[in-house]
Amino acid sequence: MAKTRGTYITVGVTGASGAVYAQSVLRFLDADPRVERVFLVVTDAGQRLIATELDIVAADGKKLAPLLTGTPAKKIEYLPNKDIGASIASGSAPVDAMVIIPCSAGALASIATGIASDLLSRSADVCLKERRRLVLCLRETPLNRIHLENMLRVHDAGATIMPAMPAFYYAPKSIDDIVTQFAYRVLAQLGLPQEKQYRWRGSKLSP
Ligand SMILES: Cc1cc2nc3c(=O)[nH]c(=O)nc-3n(C[C@H](O)[C@H](O)[C@H](O)COP(=O)(O)O)c2cc1C
Repeated sequence: MAKTRGTYITVGVTGASGAVYAQSVLRFLDADPRVERVFLVVTDAGQRLIATELDIVAADGKKLAPLLTGTPAKKIEYLPNKDIGASIASGSAPVDAMVIIPCSAGALASIATGIASDLLSRSADVCLKERRRLVLCLRETPLNRIHLENMLRVHDAGATIMPAMPAFYYAPKSIDDIVTQFAYRVLAQLGLPQEKQYRWRGSKLSP
C-alpha cells in the first residue's frame, strides 16, 4: 500500500565518540521536506558524550534537539531512554527506519543479544522484528572478538553495520566536509539520498 505520509526516522545516540555525526544527521533530517517526524533517543552515556564533545547540556531533554540543530527542531521529538512505554517501543508505531549514530560497543551488544531493556535497544529490536531498516554507526577501535561476533549477529538479523569510518578519496578540506559526507552516506542508507553526496566517477589516474 502506498505511504500517505512523510518518512519517520528514529535517531539513537549512544556513548561512543562522534556526537558531531549525530548533530549533522539531525540537522539534515530536520531540514528535509521528505521527513515528517524524527524520534530522538539518547542514552545517559550519549548525553555525556554530547556534553564532552559538543559542550551541549540540556537540563530538559526536550531542549536537546534545538540545541543540537540550532533550529526550533519542530519535527524532532525527544523520547527519554528510560521510557520503555514510548510509541517507538511498539512495532505498531509508524517508524520507517532507525539509525544509531554513534553506536557504542555496549549498545551493539544489547541489540545483538535482544535484551531490549531501554528504549534505544527496544526500538532497534522492534526494527529488526518488523524487518525495517536499522543502521548502526559503530565507533570502536580496535575490535575484539565479542564486537566482531556481535556485528555478525546483528548483520544476520537484518541490521546494516556502518562503522563511523570516514573516507578521504574525495579530498575533504575540513572536519565539516568529513562529517557531512559521512552523514550523507548514512542518510542514503535511510532511504534519503542527498544531492550533494560526493559520487566517485572513476579514477583520473591510469592503472
Ligand atoms: C568520552 C568517552 C568516549 C567513549 N567512546 C567510546 C567509543 O568510541 N566507543 C564505544 O564503544 N564506547 C565508548 N565509550 C564507552 C561507552 O560510553 C560506555 O561503554 C557506555 O556504557 C555505553 O553506554 P550506551 O551504549 O548506553 O551509550 C566512551 C566513553 C566516554 C566517557
